[in-house]
Amino acid sequence: MSLIEEISSRLQRSYQEACSLLNKANTTSDVEVVRIRFLGKKSDFSEILSGLKDLSPDDRKSVGQTANELRQHLDLAVSTKASEIGDRELEKKLANDPLDISLPGKLFSRGELHPIYKVQKEITRILQLMGLAPVYGPEVEYEEFCFDRLNFKAGHPARDMQATFFVKGGSAKGPLVLRTHTSPVQARVLMSLAKQGCPLPVRVQVPGRVYRVDDDATHSPMFHQIEGLVVDKRSGMSDLRSTLDFFFREFFGPETKVRFRPSYFPFTEPSAEVDVSCVFCKGKGCRICKTSGWLEVAGAGLVHPEVFKACGWNPDEVQGWAFGMGIDRMTMLKYEIPDLRLLFENRLSFLRGQQ
Ligand code: DAH
Repeated sequence: MSLIEEISSRLQRSYQEACSLLNKANTTSDVEVVRIRFLGKKSDFSEILSGLKDLSPDDRKSVGQTANELRQHLDLAVSTKASEIGDRELEKKLANDPLDISLPGKLFSRGELHPIYKVQKEITRILQLMGLAPVYGPEVEYEEFCFDRLNFKAGHPARDMQATFFVKGGSAKGPLVLRTHTSPVQARVLMSLAKQGCPLPVRVQVPGRVYRVDDDATHSPMFHQIEGLVVDKRSGMSDLRSTLDFFFREFFGPETKVRFRPSYFPFTEPSAEVDVSCVFCKGKGCRICKTSGWLEVAGAGLVHPEVFKACGWNPDEVQGWAFGMGIDRMTMLKYEIPDLRLLFENRLSFLRGQQ
């Protein structure tokens, strides 16, 4: 066998061997072994090619070319195999090993405001635009403020055990109840301002928790109201009406219509029930508005002269109006929540907005 034949056949054998080892390789380090042995500086190939110097220039050229081609093939085969195995190994590692530093970090779940509180804040924001300052009153309240000074006569059904939680024992200043509405704060504000000489104007809003003996899909024993009270030298029905028009359009959207229906509350005269065009069907009539196209959202009216008198104001010198609405109901309408109880169960999936 001539030298050139010998070198060529050694090259071929070496290449074959490299290919067969590569075929059997199972891990990246198997592949690395093949690469070092056949392609590295001290590889079989380099060793074989060192014999080239004894060949004629023509033979050297032709063997050299073959050697280069084999080397390139092998190089490609090695890197293809390496990346195949690398992918497989990574996949396996990801499947078994919980630590993968290439994954995005775990998200911290941030606390969120409760939907009722979000809506309360939004209502407060809008009423503040119109100058109504937030004030607060006690949840355990004297019967006197909750009813008497608001012109609820003895025997009024709202004073009944059926609707009111009475607090055992009361106090030296009279019987105590859990307030059934935020209206007693009207009496508190008027009485404390009467002591300061009845300064005008009065513009307050009263958000807060209220309590009634009631519990079903649309009633909870504890719920939330917000109350507005404005008193001035002259401020009447048209101010009340335009304030609520603005408020509900800002809250539900500019296409919202507002209507007043005559009603009765002991502490207002005249009194009105306030409806907005149904936010679900835009007034066409649906299940939620019981096909009427309207939703009842608030009570309102002009402050009753008896209330002014009972709180130390002269009804001939001032005029005022008030309104009250349920924050829970507003929340249900805003977020299309079908059952009031969802608001109080505090299921996390619901609170996160997944119902
Ligand atoms: N306090 C009433 C209730 O709980 C709501 C209400 C009606 C408040 C008319 C007002 C008002 O200030 O003017 O049902």
